[in-house]
Amino acid sequence: MASLSNSFFLLHLLLHLSSSLSTTLIETTCKSTSYPDFCVAAISSTSPQTSSTADTRGLSSIFLSLALSNATNSSSYATSLAASSITEEPIRPLLRACSLKYAAAAMP
Ligand SMILES: *[C@@H]1O[C@H](CO)[C@@H](O)[C@H](O)[C@H]1NC(C)=O
Ligand SMILES: *[C@@H]1O[C@H](CO)[C@@H](O)[C@H](O)[C@H]1NC(C)=O
Repeated sequence: MASLSNSFFLLHLLLHLSSSLSTTLIETTCKSTSYPDFCVAAISSTSPQTSSTADTRGLSSIFLSLALSNATNSSSYATSLAASSITEEPIRPLLRACSLKYAAAAMP
């Protein structure tokens, strides 16, 4: 029984350590970007399980997915604004161009 509770303690310690290490990795990585606060906020918006177990390569992959999702969403948003009845006519082609640019940015 003692060995089982020791195992649980060890597992808990390891999980805690790995999550602290990942927090440090996230902070260290984000500090090296132009927008550290935004970087931390963006990664915090993702699943903690995914981000806390990621290495640098995994973090890059998460940020790339976020950027693709944001570009896709922005393209849809610009399209819906272009189609909206409250949008003034001269603005429509600009919003359509904006939508195409975001769509192109989201191409894998
Ligand atoms: C994109 O839109 C979806 C659906 O509204 C949302 O769940 C997701 O968080 C958005 N992605 C980003 C990066 O804002
Ligand atoms: C894209 O990301 C920015 C920064 O987080 C956010 O302000 C914006 O609302 C997002 N756009 C969409 C369409 O999700």
